[in-house]
Amino acid sequence: MAPWAGAQRARRPDEAGRQALALYRGESRGARAHTLVRWFSCPFAPIAAALPTHGRILEIGCGHGLFSAYAALIEPGRSLVGTDIDADKIAHAQAALAPISDRVAARVAPDGEVPDSDGPDGGWDAIVIVDMLYLLPEAAQRALLRGAAAKVRPGGRLVVKEMSTSPRWKARWNRLQETLSVRVLRITEGGTMAFVDPGVMAGWLRTDGFGVEVRRLDAGRLHPHAMLIATRPGTAS
Ligand SMILES: C[S@@+](CC[C@H](N)C(=O)[O-])C[C@H]1O[C@@H](n2cnc3c(N)ncnc32)[C@H](O)[C@@H]1O
Repeated sequence: MAPWAGAQRARRPDEAGRQALALYRGESRGARAHTLVRWFSCPFAPIAAALPTHGRILEIGCGHGLFSAYAALIEPGRSLVGTDIDADKIAHAQAALAPISDRVAARVAPDGEVPDSDGPDGGWDAIVIVDMLYLLPEAAQRALLRGAAAKVRPGGRLVVKEMSTSPRWKARWNRLQETLSVRVLRITEGGTMAFVDPGVMAGWLRTDGFGVEVRRLDAGRLHPHAMLIATRPGTAS
């Protein structure tokens, strides 16, 4: 079987993906289209699989909340909080996620804020960021990752999915599409675009004391998806 055929099959929503997409049925046509495009353009399943199966998880830059919904629906032991600077997207997320609001919440948060969890020490079992850091200047990406790392409990994970800067043809294709989305159509909030190689981010997180694994998620895909799984040493107290 060609690798492309496997990738096509992997893109089809699984049961939790279908349930997550169905949450948006009552939303505007734009929100429905946006969530559908997000599902097919981003490999949500391996990102969700990199998160702990239980515990409190924060998604920074959750947009309409599709990934948070999916991550909660595929593992009943998880509860998620999604934050975003875009109040319109959060309003759609809150409406769509209402049927599962006991396990997934969405809130507006200012740029750079990493909220505390409602757990005993305020730390999160995991924090996940999916295709958001590139909307910040490099120094702000570094600062946000450092702020997020500080809020992950010992033994917890910081999972980051962004676009790699290689291979160059995929990186060029991605930049073209994002320029259209951020600067021309203004579908996505963000004044800047800075694609930092995941290897560089991995170095930042290692400096902060995390063990980091970098995985490519772009086999059979046009976009250079890459994921960092960063684990904070220690165990929860
Ligand atoms: C490409 S979307 C990804 C949304 C979601 N993570 C997903 O995978 O579907 C990027 C999101 O980042 C949000 N964003 C941009 N700058 C942000 C910031 N400084 N803090 C939090 N969210 C931000 C945008 O509003 C947008 O919803």
